[in-house]
Amino acid sequence: MRTLLFSSILLISLFSSSTNAQSCSAHQFSNRLYATCTNLPVLNAFLHWNYHQVNHTVDLAYRHTGVTASNWVAWALNIDGTGMIGAQSLVAFQNSGGIRAYTSPISAFRTQLQEGPLSFGVPTISAEISGNQITIFATLQLPAGRTSFNQVWQDGLVSGNVPQRHALENANRASTGTVDFQTGQVSGEGGGAANTQRKRNVSPFLLFFFFFLGIISTY
Ligand SMILES: *[C@@H]1O[C@H](CO)[C@@H](O)[C@H](O)[C@H]1NC(C)=O
Repeated sequence: MRTLLFSSILLISLFSSSTNAQSCSAHQFSNRLYATCTNLPVLNAFLHWNYHQVNHTVDLAYRHTGVTASNWVAWALNIDGTGMIGAQSLVAFQNSGGIRAYTSPISAFRTQLQEGPLSFGVPTISAEISGNQITIFATLQLPAGRTSFNQVWQDGLVSGNVPQRHALENANRASTGTVDFQTGQVSGEGGGAANTQRKRNVSPFLLFFFFFLGIISTY
């Protein structure tokens, strides 16, 4: 009986760690903690954030995996529209001087993602490249009166320190949706709710439950 229980504990922990590996909530940042995250449905991208109601700001990490040092990545809010035109973008790529992170408002399809101020404040922005992953860290002063926005994200190649047009594969066309920084609700191609700290604690609870059963069975 004990062996059976302990092997189910083992199985459950193996199962929960393998499902978590696909999930944003399993990702640990070296010295940052985000309360909410969502697996964006395409382009191997993840959004992690803390929303501060008191000053209507959001601290976020946009993580984009499956890229190389010759890719650019971008994530944007589109305040008044959808898709690419109007996207208030955070951009990062590796250039000859190291990783560069900056803001770029997009007003035309022929953009080369030139640097420029967004329609809302971005007091901090930085980026990291590690293996096949680029992460953009930023603080946004969200436009007043709402917490839900259209979002769009993308990747492409860099040539001569200049971002080139992105591909037009299905994934590159499907990389839009909405995000509500307060409720964690995301919609679009992926839909559903973001992961919160509360959900992350479910599987440790299950483990504890089975461990407890294991102890009882020894009596
Ligand atoms: C907003 O408020 C939070 C929580 O009090 C604080 O940690 C953060 O530094 C503030 N952000 C800005 C940009 O003022």
